[in-house]
Amino acid sequence: MLFTPAFFEDPYPAYRALREAGPLHYSTEFFDGAWVLTGHADVTAALRDPRLSARRTGGWVNHIDDDAAQALSPFQHLFARALLFLDAPDHTRLRQALMPAFRPGALGALQATIQAEVDALLDAIDPHQPWDAMAQLAVPLPARVMACWLGVPAAQEADFMRWSDDIAAFIGHQQPTLALGQRAQRGTLAMVAMFRRLLEQRRAHGPATDGSGGLLELMLQAQSDGAIVSEDELLAQCAMMLFAGHETTRHVLGNGLHALLSTPGAWATLQQSPELMSAAVRELLRYDSPVQYTGRRVAETFTLHGQTLQRGDLLITLLGAANRDPSVYTEPDTLRLDRREAMHVSFGSGPHVCIGAALTTLEAEVALTSVLARWPQLALAPTAPKRVHNAVYRGFEQLPLVVRV
Ligand code: HEM
Repeated sequence: MLFTPAFFEDPYPAYRALREAGPLHYSTEFFDGAWVLTGHADVTAALRDPRLSARRTGGWVNHIDDDAAQALSPFQHLFARALLFLDAPDHTRLRQALMPAFRPGALGALQATIQAEVDALLDAIDPHQPWDAMAQLAVPLPARVMACWLGVPAAQEADFMRWSDDIAAFIGHQQPTLALGQRAQRGTLAMVAMFRRLLEQRRAHGPATDGSGGLLELMLQAQSDGAIVSEDELLAQCAMMLFAGHETTRHVLGNGLHALLSTPGAWATLQQSPELMSAAVRELLRYDSPVQYTGRRVAETFTLHGQTLQRGDLLITLLGAANRDPSVYTEPDTLRLDRREAMHVSFGSGPHVCIGAALTTLEAEVALTSVLARWPQLALAPTAPKRVHNAVYRGFEQLPLVVRV
C-alpha cells in the first residue's frame, strides 16, 4: 500500500515490491485510478512517447466532481497554459522562448547571487546550537534566488512561500480534495495578482537598476517577440517558475544533506575529494528524488506490456522507483558518490525534461560546498527529522543538524 505514514518515511520498499510484481500496474490509489510504471527504461520511454499528452490539469479537478471542476476553473485556466502542461506546438514555442535564460552560460550571472545568499544564510546560523537545515537554509535559499531572478521584492517572500506551499499540497496530492484545490486556487490567484502589479510597474518604469528580474525581462521580451501570445500565458509562466523553482530545489538540499550525513563516511569523503561534487549532486538526486512522480494522459489508445491503455487514461511514471531500478544501478539502495551509471530521471526525460536542472544543480553545488567548508563536523541532531507527507514532492519539513565539537 502506498501513501501510509511508513511510506512517506521510506517509499523505496513499496516501489521495489511494485517493480518485482511486474512492469505495469493499475492502481486505484492515484486519482480515479491510473496506470503506474516503475522501470527506468519504461519511464524514460513513456516521457518521450508522443501518444502520451502532458495536458493533464483537468485530472486534478474532474476526479473530485463537476462542481469542483467549475469552482476551480480559474486555477485550471492558469495552469493549463503553463509550459509543463502543454504539448507541441505550444510547448515547443514556449520552451524555445524560455530556454536561453536557463542555459549554464546564462546562469553564470546568478552564481554570485546564489553565493551571496548562501553566505548570508550560513552567517546567520549559530553553529553551537542545533539548527534546522530546512528553515535556515534549504527553504529560503531557492526562494530568494527565484524571487531575485523574477524581480519579486523580498518583502513578498513569506507570502509567495505560503501560496506556493498551498499549490504544492494540492498538485502533489494523489487524490486531491476540493478544499485543497480552493486553497491552491487562492494562492495562485494571489500570486498572479502580485505578478500583474510587478509587470505594471516594470512597464511603467523600465527594468530594475539592481540587475534583478532577469527572467522576467526575458519573458517580457518573448511576449514582445510574439513567442508568448497573451498576458494569461505570461502570468502562467511567471507563477509556474516561481513555484517550480523553489518547491523542488529545497528538497534537493534537504534530502541531499540528510543522505550525506546518514551514510557513514559520505560527508568526510566529499570533504576530502571536493572534485566529486558534481557526481555527488547527481547521485543525491537519484538516491532520494525531490519529485517522486509525474503523469501523462493517454492521447491515443495503445498496448503496453500486454495491457490496453485507453485514450483518456492517466499514466503515472514513478521517477523515484525508476531511480532505484536494479537493472540500471548496481546496489540501487546504496549512496555512491562516485557512481557513473545511467542518468537519473529526477528531472524527467524527453521534451519536458526539467528546464531548471542546471540552476538547481548550481544551487546545490554552491550550498553544499559552502556548508562543507564551514562545518566539517556537521551531523544529524538527536531530534528526529520530520518528513513532508506529499506524494510528489519528497523532502523534509524539519531537518535538525548540529556541529559536533
Ligand atoms: C531539485 C530540483 C528540481 C527537480 C527534481 C525538478 C523536476 C522536474 C521534473 C521531473 C520535470 C518534468 C515533469 C514532467 O515531465 O512532467 C520538470 C519540469 C520543469 N521544471 Fe523542474 N525540477 C527542479 C527544479 C526546477 C527549477 C529550479 C525550475 C525553475 C527555475 C524548474 C522549472 C521547471 C519547468 C518550467 C518545467 C517544465 C518544463 C517543460 O515542460 O518543458 N524546475 N522539473
